[in-house]
Amino acid sequence: MKVLVVGGGGREHAICWKLAQSPKVTKLYCAPGNGGIAQVAQCVPIKATDVDGMVKWARENAMDFVMVAPDDPLALGMVDALEAAGIPAFGPRANAAIIEASKAFSKELMKKYHIPTAKYETFTDLDSALTYIREQGAPIVVKADGLALGKGVVVASTVEEAQTATREMMEDKKFGESGSTVVIEECMTGPEVTVLAFCDGEHLVPMLSSQDHKRAFDGNQGPNTGGMGAFCPSPNYTPEIAELCMREIFLPTVAALKAEGRPFKGIIYFGLMLTKDGPRVVEYNARFGDPETQPILSMLDTDLMEIFQACVDGTLDQVDIQWKSGAACCLVLASGGYPISYKGGYPISGLEEAEKLGATVFHAGTKAENGQILTAGGRVLGVTAVGSSLEGAIRKAYAAAAPISFQDMHFRTDIGKV
Ligand code: AMP
Ligand code: GLY
Repeated sequence: MKVLVVGGGGREHAICWKLAQSPKVTKLYCAPGNGGIAQVAQCVPIKATDVDGMVKWARENAMDFVMVAPDDPLALGMVDALEAAGIPAFGPRANAAIIEASKAFSKELMKKYHIPTAKYETFTDLDSALTYIREQGAPIVVKADGLALGKGVVVASTVEEAQTATREMMEDKKFGESGSTVVIEECMTGPEVTVLAFCDGEHLVPMLSSQDHKRAFDGNQGPNTGGMGAFCPSPNYTPEIAELCMREIFLPTVAALKAEGRPFKGIIYFGLMLTKDGPRVVEYNARFGDPETQPILSMLDTDLMEIFQACVDGTLDQVDIQWKSGAACCLVLASGGYPISYKGGYPISGLEEAEKLGATVFHAGTKAENGQILTAGGRVLGVTAVGSSLEGAIRKAYAAAAPISFQDMHFRTDIGKV
């Protein structure tokens, strides 16, 4: 099969790396890809959000299958457009990708189908939102309705902070139209766990549980990032909790989407908080997480292409999905100054030594130029290692990262500490 993966970050490198191992895949392409992806797939210079350009290229080059990884093209209806062109495509259609693209939609879905989540109200009027915050008191959480690059959530410890965040979203349009509707919700506490699940519209198979580290600096300090590292499985996610989540959250979510006429085929990302009253949904995403995908796919033993096809065909219940035992850890090496401001174009050294130490180095923001790999983004690399225990995986990832260097390289030293 000729397969195209849409996207160009560390997550897409892990997906391409795994698909390249499939005997079903004879030729692999990635658009736009990056310097590391180019080692396992042929990169095609089309922007991930260019729906028309992507469909045209896929048709002209007779792709047998397209996997759409990032949230933006999913929300823009890239899967719908590929299907309309007769090309099998993996990922939710726009009407199901809305579980990530609109927090107001997903909160309402959870309320309607009794899926446990934080209590909330939705507002399109600033004054009503400010009054509600004053009545509820702090701590309280303010969320922009639409996609905001993971930055549209403010966990406010005072009423003033919450009101300022609401004004910035609704009045100053800090996130553009994404903030014209805001969701204001109860602040929950407890450990956070991510569970990604394969879905075929009807059936759902959870992957290994995982955790990521969103803050830029050690000890969960500093600004929120796309994720400075991740590991799997999560020691907090016991078999009892898994059973509860399956019954109260995962299956009801898939059934709810189907009942609403929005069958979900693709990956549902369940962001969960394990509160003292039980697991609650913090957020849904309509895609693989980044960097969670890097350790998770490193643990997958089954052919990923076979799973993707089963999701599209509605036969996921017939696939026996197997995982390695042990654990995996992904350590992100970022550009200095990320996520605020950073430079690119610096040469990276030590990549081969890292791989020799037993890690897989997934590229997030790199480009290949004249045979040299250069930095080209905030998150640059995800050094990923598998071990027989979480401690072992962490040790191996850090040891493998040691020979890697580029100017102003920054990483956390506490990835995997729960
Ligand atoms: P989200 O983009 O919705 O995942 O939110 C980003 C982060 O904000 C989450 O990973 C949580 O750490 C935090 N958060 C979101 N909603 C809540 C909530 N209701 N209570 C406490 N923390 C939250
Ligand atoms: N690591 C968080 C996300 O992918 O949304």
